[in-house]
Amino acid sequence: MILIVFLISQSSALFTPMQVHLSWTEKSSEMCVMWQSRMSGEAKISYRPYLCKQNFDWKTINAQTSRIDFGTEMPRYSYIHTAIMTDLQADCYYEYTVGIGYFWTESFVFSGRTPGHDINTSYKMMIFGDLGTHYHGQKSLNLMKTMTETQEILGIMHMGDIGYNLEYDQGLIGDKFLDMIKPIATTHAYMTMPGNHEQANNFTAYKQRFLMPRNEASQNSSYFYSLNIGHVHYICLNTNPFLIIEQKSERKTMINWLKDDLFKANNNRNNVPWIIILHHHTFYCTLNPNMEMSRKDCEVQAEIIRNALEDIYYENKVDLVLAGHVHRYERQASIYKNQTILGDVDEQNKHVNAKAPIYIVSGSAGNRSNKNDPSSPYNYLWTRFVSDDFGFGMLTMINKTTLLWEQFSSESDKMIDYVYIIKQNNQTSS
Ligand SMILES: *[C@@H]1O[C@H](CO)[C@@H](O)[C@H](O)[C@H]1NC(C)=O
Ligand SMILES: *[C@@H]1O[C@H](CO)[C@@H](O)[C@H](O)[C@H]1NC(C)=O
Ligand SMILES: *[C@@H]1O[C@H](CO)[C@@H](O)[C@H](O)[C@H]1NC(C)=O
Ligand SMILES: *[C@@H]1O[C@H](CO)[C@@H](O)[C@H](O)[C@H]1NC(C)=O
Ligand SMILES: *[C@@H]1O[C@H](CO)[C@@H](O)[C@H](O)[C@H]1NC(C)=O
Ligand SMILES: *[C@@H]1O[C@H](CO)[C@@H](O)[C@H](O)[C@H]1NC(C)=O
Ligand SMILES: [Fe+2]
Repeated sequence: MILIVFLISQSSALFTPMQVHLSWTEKSSEMCVMWQSRMSGEAKISYRPYLCKQNFDWKTINAQTSRIDFGTEMPRYSYIHTAIMTDLQADCYYEYTVGIGYFWTESFVFSGRTPGHDINTSYKMMIFGDLGTHYHGQKSLNLMKTMTETQEILGIMHMGDIGYNLEYDQGLIGDKFLDMIKPIATTHAYMTMPGNHEQANNFTAYKQRFLMPRNEASQNSSYFYSLNIGHVHYICLNTNPFLIIEQKSERKTMINWLKDDLFKANNNRNNVPWIIILHHHTFYCTLNPNMEMSRKDCEVQAEIIRNALEDIYYENKVDLVLAGHVHRYERQASIYKNQTILGDVDEQNKHVNAKAPIYIVSGSAGNRSNKNDPSSPYNYLWTRFVSDDFGFGMLTMINKTTLLWEQFSSESDKMIDYVYIIKQNNQTSS
């Protein structure tokens, strides 16, 4: 008897679905769910509409399973399961549960408003970089969780430097990170981009654990993709290849895809007027250039990335560029080639008809290697607001003409900065 109980409890631990998380795919009306188990088995997902007019029964589909080997010195392996829920309706919520054999999770609920739906409906998107599993990241996550529970938030975008590092301790850090974000990632699409801390072994751990919208150019690698959500066209990029000499061909492939994607987005601007680009490394930041790390981030590497991308953003009238990497919050004005470009109105908390991209760094979700040097200059001509508090951003698409960006501090649990970005008469920047 004791032996049987022991065996059941052991096998339940081995088969229990863990680290369940959601992401949007390249198609609207779809949601991808991924999870992990120690042992392989028949992996399935059951889901059904919830809180809407339809009253369908549970639908069960099989997942695809792949084995990952975390290391050779001490063998440790695990199974990653991926399934895609289809035909989701925007006016429904969905309840789902995932299982391996006889072992199923509790059920989770998410909104069926996938990208491409509800172009006129206002929504909020949580956005940040550099989270990790340490104390400060946990604290940010607590506030994120409270906000996802008390407000209608459509999705989450994590601009790289995900777990510090997903592959460490034979992947146990990756497990820990995905366990940590479970309260928000089982209920919201958790979208990612690779940062420098995802680079190991050609981004292997990143590609194994996250599936982002697929496209041919990226070879389904989750490196870069774009999505239309309401009146915003989001482009998520991988800035690492600009800093890795051997990745010359990856650089070229992504730039060609980007130019093509921007061309199409510009032709669709009557319907989707805003273009926002997100990636890990930033173009502009103001850390003290006398410090080695700061000089590397804000001068050397930022310049390499600007040289590769800034003209493309400017010529294609990109509205807003969001990044992480620098572990603080810095909001900047419209900039082109390090010069502030004036729009029709440029107040502290409001830009109207900007003439060049506005830049925001929100890379303070969790990791801070050390406090930034307090002598770091804040007084660049284009600096609008700087904070060293841990926290994260929230973008609200209010309507076709108005976006609101807010930054929240997880130290004071307060909103610490905001800016309205307004575009009248369907004008585009520049
Ligand atoms: C969005 O709103 C505009 C203006 O009010 C309207 O013309 C358009 O049909 C709406 N689009 C959708 C998909 O509801
Ligand atoms: C790295 O991964 C990308 C995309 O998955 C692939 O195109 C490339 O060939 C890989 N590079 C190496 C060196 O394995
Ligand atoms: C990418 O994914 C699509 C959709 O699942 C599939 O049809 C295609 O073969 C994949 N391409 C590559 C290069 O893996
Ligand atoms: C913070 O980031 C730095 C550099 O990006 C990294 O070396 C360090 O391990 C990270 N620390 C924590 C606590 O996550
Ligand atoms: C950018 O402009 C600031 C002044 O706003 C100046 O201090 C800085 O050196 C300039 N950087 C470059 C790379 O020109
Ligand atoms: C968009 O929202 C702003 C802020 O709430 C409002 O002032 C403006 O009139 C709205 N514009 C349209 C076209 O609905
Ligand atoms: Fe980074």
